[in-house]
Amino acid sequence: MIELSGVEKYFAGQVVVHPLSLTIKEGEFLTLLGPSGCGKTTILRMIAGFEYPTKGKILLDGADLTSLPPNRRDLNLVFQHYALFPHMTVEDNIAFGLKMKKLPAKEQQERIQEAVEMTQLTPLVKRYPHQLSGGQQQRVAIARAIANKPKVLLLDEPLGALDLQLRKNLQSELKHLQRSLGITFVYVTHDQEEAMMLSDRIVIMNSGKVEQIGTPREIYATPTTLFSATFVGENNIFSQDGRLFAVRPEKLRAVRSQDGAKRIGEVLDVLYLGSIHKLVVQLEDEPMTVSIVLDFTDERTWQVGEKVGVNWNTEDEVVIGP
Ligand SMILES: Nc1ncnc2c1ncn2[C@@H]1O[C@H](COP(=O)(O)OP(=O)(O)OP(=O)(O)O)[C@@H](O)[C@H]1O
Ligand SMILES: [Mg+2]
Repeated sequence: MIELSGVEKYFAGQVVVHPLSLTIKEGEFLTLLGPSGCGKTTILRMIAGFEYPTKGKILLDGADLTSLPPNRRDLNLVFQHYALFPHMTVEDNIAFGLKMKKLPAKEQQERIQEAVEMTQLTPLVKRYPHQLSGGQQQRVAIARAIANKPKVLLLDEPLGALDLQLRKNLQSELKHLQRSLGITFVYVTHDQEEAMMLSDRIVIMNSGKVEQIGTPREIYATPTTLFSATFVGENNIFSQDGRLFAVRPEKLRAVRSQDGAKRIGEVLDVLYLGSIHKLVVQLEDEPMTVSIVLDFTDERTWQVGEKVGVNWNTEDEVVIGP
């Protein structure tokens, strides 16, 4: 559906996106995930046509888009900060793109109604942006994009400005919307939980480079680099015999008897986080702490300062590259 082939971007002679090749499938929810400044927005803007790659090609359905302007691409971009027209009602904001395309009035009405229903804005169509909450405004921005029925929707941290509760609600709405519309979504976030929850596949980026591409399950279970191992979810990294491996906190076991334990340490902290309990253990002979999720069936309590054996199954070691 969308193909990036050897796409690179330089700003003022500085590389911002290293050569990137990526195929995004039709109907896929693909997320670019990475820390601030890693190049996510730049990649999205190149797909949208607001930036041109320094090198490489972008294809949509086999057609070369690389030098087409944004309005000639069958895709829509939703920004982090909902850019609504303040002097237009919700309805008119959504209608704007349809009018520009000179669609027949009847079809405009149908599309507006459909988009408004899908985003649960029906009671608000006569309001102006300043009469809406942040979440409602962002829903209008999404409604406006889907009313255009683009082949691809590009979303740049569309929930970034919202509080946690609202973000959670809109996350499931977005996922539902994407499934029912069957539109390809390219989504940008720096929130790993959001990426895990929404995506079919995640592209983990770091300093303009792809670290790993995979399904949420692959990324979580078998990270291939130190960066992906530690950026998504908590992880314990061990170095042994010149290699690095990761073991997730829920794969570690805290044992009273230190005989036969793979590591020995001392309890530094006991954390009760509601649904999970964790131990933070300072290892002996190594300047690192490990985090252990406690088994719920284990009713024994641990004390800070107590000696503890740390064990795991060798098959739960995930070897990671340099
Ligand atoms: N027009 C520009 N001119 C020069 N440098 C730019 C320009 N746009 C972006 N950059 C630089 O490119 C790098 C990547 O920026 P980009 O906006 O793609 O990051 P991002 O991953 O979206 O970050 P964030 O999560 O903070 O939005 C940054 O170092 C940024 O300063
Ligand atoms: Mg950005």
